[in-house]
Amino acid sequence: MPATTPTDREVVAARLLAGSIKRSYNPVVDLDWDAPLVEGRYFLPPTVLSLYGTPMWESMSEGQRIELSRQEAANILSVGTWFENILLQALLRDLLHRDPTSLQTRYTLTEMGDECRHMTMFARTIAAMGAKPFQLRPHQAVVANLLSKTFRGTMLWVAALIGEEIFDATQRRVQNDPQLQPMMSRVMRIHVTEEARHIRFAREGVRSRVAQTHPIEKAWVGTVQGIGGLLLQRLFTNPAIYERTGLDVREARRQALANPHFRENQRRGFDGLAAFLQENGLMRAPSRAMWRRSGFL
Ligand SMILES: [Fe+2]
Ligand SMILES: [Fe+2]
Repeated sequence: MPATTPTDREVVAARLLAGSIKRSYNPVVDLDWDAPLVEGRYFLPPTVLSLYGTPMWESMSEGQRIELSRQEAANILSVGTWFENILLQALLRDLLHRDPTSLQTRYTLTEMGDECRHMTMFARTIAAMGAKPFQLRPHQAVVANLLSKTFRGTMLWVAALIGEEIFDATQRRVQNDPQLQPMMSRVMRIHVTEEARHIRFAREGVRSRVAQTHPIEKAWVGTVQGIGGLLLQRLFTNPAIYERTGLDVREARRQALANPHFRENQRRGFDGLAAFLQENGLMRAPSRAMWRRSGFL
């Protein structure tokens, strides 16, 4: 693959800016927040729920299954908000060193605007679902704030991809599922459209950085990025989900972590990104081991 030069980055930014003008959303007006929920529909399709197909799932009533989908959806939207917050912090810090007149800066600011609207959309969705947001514990908030400070250079774009691509791949797959609440489909479609540009920008960011980066930085990023897998697995099986659904928390989490359907979903979500990291020399043995251990490989 030919190395991306800084000029290419400007060309990509110009294209993404044009795309943003053509197709962007304002969820405050583009979604009907007053529409009632549809009785009997899921907030995430059953097949992507962490307990789908387990003995515990088989023993649950339809109502409990839908409640689990509400809590898992509220959890994912909360995690999405935290990730976007961390990304915004890191991008803003990065911009301090950039040429404010460049197209890359202009696109970064456009992306930040998208993320602000996504955070608003996620919060309103949680409320409209009749759920409560999940909160970071104080020590987790300290880690989140520290994390944003470590996301620089190649790491910034790899972290952005870990935060965006896995969610995105799953949303693309399930956004038109007929079992979904119509509001959830609409939220996913808006998010998928705008995230496609963010992912393109982050992937180009990785490619251009890798072409210029010192081998030590590349080795470091390739070695530690797998921590993302361990973190995601923990967040996806947050005990509070099962507690709010009224399930035996320890048993539910145990069955979710051992659930082959759930692992298959994780693998499908990570597939494209794993190949991309591999192609760019950013998947070293320790990271591969962490992604495997957390069920994404
Ligand atoms: Fe987003
Ligand atoms: Fe994004």
